[in-house]
Amino acid sequence: MSDPVPAMAERAADCADCLLAADSVVLASHIDADGLTSGAIAATALERAGVPFETTFEKQLDAEAIDRIAATEHDVALFTDFGSGQLDDIVPHEDAGDFTPVVADHHQPATVEDGEDPDTDLHLNPLLFGIDGAAELSGAGATYVLARAMETDGVDNRDLAALAVVGAVGDMQDTDGGLIGANEGVVAEGVEAGVLEEVTDISLYGRQTRPLPKLLEYASELRIPGISGDENGSIRFLSDLDVDLQVDGDWRRWVDLSFEERQTVASALMRHAISRGVPPERVNSVTTTTYTLTAEAVGTELRDVSEFSTVLNATARYERADVGLAVCLGYRGDALEEARRLLRTHRRNLSEGLEWVKNEGVEHEEHLQWFDAGTRIRETIVGIIAGMALGADGVRRDQPIVAFAEENAEELKVSARGSGFLVRDGLDLSVVMSEASAAVGGGGGGHDVAAGATIPRDARDAFLERADEIVGEQLGD
Ligand code: C5P
Ligand code: C5P
Ligand code: C5P
Ligand code: ZN
Repeated sequence: MSDPVPAMAERAADCADCLLAADSVVLASHIDADGLTSGAIAATALERAGVPFETTFEKQLDAEAIDRIAATEHDVALFTDFGSGQLDDIVPHEDAGDFTPVVADHHQPATVEDGEDPDTDLHLNPLLFGIDGAAELSGAGATYVLARAMETDGVDNRDLAALAVVGAVGDMQDTDGGLIGANEGVVAEGVEAGVLEEVTDISLYGRQTRPLPKLLEYASELRIPGISGDENGSIRFLSDLDVDLQVDGDWRRWVDLSFEERQTVASALMRHAISRGVPPERVNSVTTTTYTLTAEAVGTELRDVSEFSTVLNATARYERADVGLAVCLGYRGDALEEARRLLRTHRRNLSEGLEWVKNEGVEHEEHLQWFDAGTRIRETIVGIIAGMALGADGVRRDQPIVAFAEENAEELKVSARGSGFLVRDGLDLSVVMSEASAAVGGGGGGHDVAAGATIPRDARDAFLERADEIVGEQLGD
């Protein structure tokens, strides 16, 4: 047996031994694309190994959620895509004999102000092995490493690499032209297992399902003048090319084009971008490494990993993790129908939310920009919208963005997003969110490039002031 991520193999084997020896396991995971795929990978591996288990999804792994998990009658608790940031609440339950915890996560482990940081032996996190948890391995990737170590009776679980890649892309780990580092080992195994295809293709979101003009019009990431955000401009651009755009009155999609037609569109797009003065690095990012799930039908949301991950967010972030999990586990029929219905709502919410932010504009502190959506944007998707807003007109790209939305009558949800560029300059939003929230009696964490928090409702301005200071210190200006 080879190891997808050799540095983590030994710890993974220890975690696998514990799970395989368990009487039964309670599996807890996070409600987003990476969390759902993590849960599906773990569930499949446990099922295949014949270990009884029960699955639960949580929006936030807070002390109450961990208490609920501890109250179940299972001897082992497996936390996937969260847990590292909550060891201070998990370890006391281990000490009390409530459960043996196994954690497969990629978030920053919590640090305590005084005394020793809490830890547990069965903690599988890329960050503990010198691997970047924000860019090189996701929760689903860590869980995949664990699943590979759970190989029993010759079932090696390599087919689960497909879900691991959906999770990594769902956490936007492919933003630098494709997956890098440890993720590449996962991709290689998926390709070998025949479940995944890796191809250089156009980098636009919606290759499988969007009509061609929409594919171009919605390509906000590339910001190509005369095309991005411009429906007529997109149609005009396409009409000038030697490519049939419609079949029987229906727009063709990217997947409907032949290899030659795709090349025609991609080169014309690059020429157009250059002629409109788009900088070279953005012109180059017209193409990227893409990942396709070979078992899924061409032209469906599940064939392309980024569209698949959006389907999952559309379920889990609307309290329907059960639907997303079913889709991950291979159920189609009703589960997929329901997922598609949820996807339509999610898309509408994303586009209305982004419009709202663009219309309202953002406020500026010295080192960061922010908006408070109140009840206009659901708190479970305000982070996705904050990330999308970073590419929008009127929003600076050289400052992180902090977004607020109402969580409940007492609390505000905070989501923060930065860029690879700012992280290379010293930005660590996980520290910003955990310290600024702690300063006002809340809690938070995450990754350097994307993090979040929950704070008391009346603490917004004090929180902003502290966050602004910390960002200033990190970026040294
Ligand atoms: O909890 P979790 O780790 O799954 O969430 C990670 C979040 O970070 C996702 O919402 C993802 O979109 C965001 N992210 C980002 N930019 C990156 C990497 C991650 O906005 N470069
Ligand atoms: O929903 P999810 O986090 O998977 O979205 C990832 C990215 O895909 C978004 O940041 C956005 O740029 C793009 N997207 C889009 N149109 C949608 C959904 C997502 O352009 N309807
Ligand atoms: O919710 P949002 O998408 O903004 O979360 C961004 C990242 O911050 C995720 O990785 C999430 O798990 C993390 N987060 C956290 N604690 C919170 C809120 C978010 O660790 N209270
Ligand atoms: Zn994750």
